[in-house]
Formats: sequence, structure tokens, C-alpha cells
Amino acid sequence: MIVVTRRIPEPALELLQAAGDVWISPHDRPLTAEELRAAVKGAEAVITLLHDPVDAALIDAAGPQLKCIANVAVGYDNIDVAAATERGVVVTNTPGVLTDSTADLAMALILMVTRRLGEGERRIRSGEPWSWDMFFMLGSSLAGKTLGVIGLGAIGRATAQRARAFGMEIVYAAPRRASEQAEAELGGARRVPLMQLLATADVVTLHTPLTPETRHLIDAPALRQMRSDAYLVNTSRGPIVDEAALIEALRAERIGGAALDVFDTEPLPADHPLRKLPNATLTGHIGYVTRDLYELFYGGAVEDIAAFQAGNPIRVMG
Ligand code: GLV
Repeated sequence: MIVVTRRIPEPALELLQAAGDVWISPHDRPLTAEELRAAVKGAEAVITLLHDPVDAALIDAAGPQLKCIANVAVGYDNIDVAAATERGVVVTNTPGVLTDSTADLAMALILMVTRRLGEGERRIRSGEPWSWDMFFMLGSSLAGKTLGVIGLGAIGRATAQRARAFGMEIVYAAPRRASEQAEAELGGARRVPLMQLLATADVVTLHTPLTPETRHLIDAPALRQMRSDAYLVNTSRGPIVDEAALIEALRAERIGGAALDVFDTEPLPADHPLRKLPNATLTGHIGYVTRDLYELFYGGAVEDIAAFQAGNPIRVMG
């Protein structure tokens, strides 16, 4: 039995049905912990989404026949990979497919927050009277400014490439230096220590996976390093930023603004303080999927499962 925790596109479902018996969630919402536990019981493979927490207890609840968890996302912080590995369960993800879509969103958020597009749009819609003058919704330009990229993997690089087209200089912080060619392709990008990046960048964009090391990487001291006119953009995972410290910094206008696609709690609760802050631009974890990618996305996960069911090798996690 292949268990699918949420609605998937028809062609992907057909491919899956050709590979074996499929149970698909009838709900258009994440399964509750209890529903998830009941759903995976007896499954040989499970297709999960980033909102499905998979821990040792869930894998045990599935039973010893479970062999494969295909997570439809590049990030797999929702899965206890060590617990899966200990139990002989293979975990796959979907790298590559979403590089451009996430970088597009990061660039869109950079533009939104620096030009105050969300705020301006809300103002126009509100019907409040306004008249053009030299100070109306004044934002800041990108050309000649510095983009600080934290994490120069595929998405970080793709975001930096886009920012180059807007005339930005690139600095980056990463565990390893990129190749000379990669740095040259980004207009001579320089690797700098994190604190230096935070102190100098006009816009800081986050592209690291969520791990114990990156949780709260951007905490209160890190935010204090940022310039008062700098912007923070997060399209990776909410907990990489200490959300309470960020709210404080935004309230006190200690930074220029933040554009966030990801949060500690998703969906963002109705009364969440971020919703009240005019210098915060908010989207709802939409970076990684577009209409064009939907089938390709599931295709990878489905191919993994189909290959696994047929006893063929599956892709390695990237
Ligand atoms: C989306 O957030 C992903 O990790 O792919």
C-alpha cells in the first residue's frame, strides 16, 4: 500500500496507481497527528509533505513493512531521517525542481520589501486618500547595493544570479567557499564571515536548510549586527530566524523591514503580531511550487516510489 497524505495531481496519481495500491487522504488539509498515524498503518511507502511530521513513533506505527518515505519538498526537517535509517526506511526529497521558483520568489520578496509594494498596494486598496509627492511610499533601489546570501547552495546561487541582473553586488556566508568560477559568475562574489555579512549587506537572504546548527541562526545579536536600513528575506524555514527577536527589531524599526515566506507556525495564526507590522511583507510558504512545476514535483516522488516498488534503484537525497 502506498499512502499519500494529501491531494496530488491526477497524472502523478495515475503513475502511482500503476505502481501499487494507493490510499490518498480525502481531506484538503494536513492530516492531524492521529489521522496520520492511522493512515500510515500497513503502508510500504508514504508520500509526505512538509507539514507532515515523521518521527520514530510514526514510523513504528506504520509497521516493519514500511520501506520508503518520499517527501515532496527539498527540505526534510519534518522527517527524523536517523530514525528512518535505523529502521531501514529510505527517505527521498525533491531537489532541483524548485530551485528557480524559490529564487524567483526570493527576488520578488526583495523587490516587494525594498519598494514597499505590499504596503503600497494595501494603501491604494483601502480607499484612503493619497496624492503623489516625492515622499510617497519611498523605497530603496537595488542597483549598486549588496545582497548578503546566507547559504550558497542551488537556491542561494539562483537568487544571487537574479540579484546580479538588478545590479547588486554579492557577498555570501557558507560553510565552504564556492569555486572561483561560481564566484566569478556572480560578478566576483566574496565569502565573508556571517557577522560581517550581516553588518554590511543591504539585503540579507536566507537559503540554508533547517538543522540544529541553523536553528535561530538569525537571533537577537545577529539582528543587531544588521544596518538600520537593511532588509531580511526568508524563503527557507521559519525557525532559522528567532521570530520573537525579529518582531522586536521590526517594531523598534531597528532594521528596514523583512519579507517572509516561512514562519515558526504555518499557517500563520490569525492574531500573529507579524500581521500587524507594516514593515513586514508576508507570503504563505508559496516559494517552491508553481503551476508549471506541480506535476514534475510529484513526478520525482512518484518515480521514486514506483522504482522502489519495482525493486529498481531510487534517486539519492540531495
Ligand atoms: C519547500 O519548502 C521545500 O523544502 O521544498
